[in-house]
Amino acid sequence: MDSAPAKPKRKIRWKKVIAWGAAGIVVLAVLIQFVPYGRNHTNPPVTMEPAWDSPQTRQLAVRACYDCHSNETTWPWYSNVAPISWYVQHDVDEGRADINFSEWDRPQNEADEIVKSVRDGEMPPGIYLPTHPDARLSPAERQALIQGLTATFGPGKQGQRGGTLAGVGSAH
Ligand code: HEC
Repeated sequence: MDSAPAKPKRKIRWKKVIAWGAAGIVVLAVLIQFVPYGRNHTNPPVTMEPAWDSPQTRQLAVRACYDCHSNETTWPWYSNVAPISWYVQHDVDEGRADINFSEWDRPQNEADEIVKSVRDGEMPPGIYLPTHPDARLSPAERQALIQGLTATFGPGKQGQRGGTLAGVGSAH
């Protein structure tokens, strides 16, 4: 009795698989650029700033917070490239919705959390820092920011209410 002939092994042509895979990724990368979300890079007018306790506090906040919590966002070139653009847009939209230092004439829901967010090291978000070395505060700068934010936004402080437009336009 003859044994069944061995099935010919199917050879996987890895080079072909990799070539098709790479082509697929390129096509996908191009296609996602057409998703309309992520390009609304507007910087609406600054209507009112908090009454900062000092120019230094404002300057530290500009460095560490303004990209996501003001209307003076710097939009880097890669913020136009999906999927990074989706991420950046989401951060700025959410950030401005919680705290917007440029619209202090409207209620700021999370104003009570400002000092705590920096003290706890929650803000600025760690993932933002490698691409934004300016926002990386030294321990002394962080301390100065916490003190300044407390003086500005602490209970009963001026910053809780509206401030002036002084210094607006010199953010960068
Ligand atoms: C890279 C963008 C980015 C930067 C820079 C940034 N934030 Fe935020 N922040 C967000 C986003 C997004 C949210 C809302 C989502 C969340 O809660 O994480 C937020 C939320 C907050 C809140 C609401 C309460 C909370 O913790 O969720 C406070 C307060 C805050 N940020 C303060 C600051 C301060 C102060 C700085 C500067 C020292 C800063 N943020 C820098 C993106 C940012």
